[in-house]
Amino acid sequence: MSVEELKTELEKVLDKALRSIKEIKNYEDLEKARVQFLGKKSQLNSLMKSLSTLDGKNKADFGKIVNQAKNSLNSSLEEKKKSLKSKANKKIDNFDVTMPSRQISIGSLHPITKIMNYSIDIFQALKFECVEGPEVEDDFHNFTALNIPESHPARAMHDTFYLEDGNLLRTHTSSVQIRAMREKEIPIRIIAPGKVYRKDSDITHTPMFHQIEGLYIDKDVSFSNLKSIINIFLKSFFEEEDLKIRFRPSYFPFTEPSAEVDIEYFNNKGEKSWLEILGCGMVHPNVLEMANINSSIYSGYAFGLGVERLAMLKLGISDLRLFYENDLRFLEQFKRVKL
Ligand code: DAH
Repeated sequence: MSVEELKTELEKVLDKALRSIKEIKNYEDLEKARVQFLGKKSQLNSLMKSLSTLDGKNKADFGKIVNQAKNSLNSSLEEKKKSLKSKANKKIDNFDVTMPSRQISIGSLHPITKIMNYSIDIFQALKFECVEGPEVEDDFHNFTALNIPESHPARAMHDTFYLEDGNLLRTHTSSVQIRAMREKEIPIRIIAPGKVYRKDSDITHTPMFHQIEGLYIDKDVSFSNLKSIINIFLKSFFEEEDLKIRFRPSYFPFTEPSAEVDIEYFNNKGEKSWLEILGCGMVHPNVLEMANINSSIYSGYAFGLGVERLAMLKLGISDLRLFYENDLRFLEQFKRVKL
């Protein structure tokens, strides 16, 4: 290009840039414009590079004009910045600090989550390690390894959701016992909280509910160790030293002996009554052997707590289904409940 052509081009570029800077309404666009018009890839910059193709007086001449163009772009950007700033200040001047703020509704943890976390804290203080297992489980971990073989009637009692691939939704957190026993070194002292699933739905059953499984394996573990840990947990959970706790003989295929634990409470008629809240027992030797633990050396206890039951008693709820209808009027009552 000749020097004349370069000058005309420069004029056009400058004119266009100045006009678009005038239109700018915010800082972000201002920064973009700075890069677009003065940056390395700008038209101005490539015009500057053409300087090397000119010689003598032309070079000096054009160099001067390019610099002027650069300066005027810079000052136009600077001016724009000032005017944006003063507009922003005006806006702040109009701001009424005494106006009430918009109501922001802050969410909170679901009451069941709160009860779970609260229970986990207690067990952790008792040196139980918190572990998790899969909700989609296989038959081995949910049944067979827990001493519930194929033909066992307990399978029918579980109302299992089966999946097409032969797996199932775990019917209890006891499946995590097996995983822990097969993976961990003895002594094993774990809790496994989580969701479990059964085809069941009425005032006291929902198809999904929560359990906390406990397992302790070591040498010389006895039923009195089990009783003591359950007592400590329940008294601390209900914050009641005189809580009435009843161990009732029961049957589970994976424990021997087995018990169910009830606690005394006042029902909605104000009468004293017992409510079952957990199953427990000494881990059955067959279960230990299936998890490759020598049952002549080691013993253990296990328990499975119903979290919804605990929550109903602790929070004074009489219908289990309320927890899962997700009615905000119900849920919001527990926002401020500190556990
Ligand atoms: N898995 C049992 C259930 O869902 C509860 C249970 C009973 C768990 C006894 C245990 C146990 O660990 O020892 O009904």
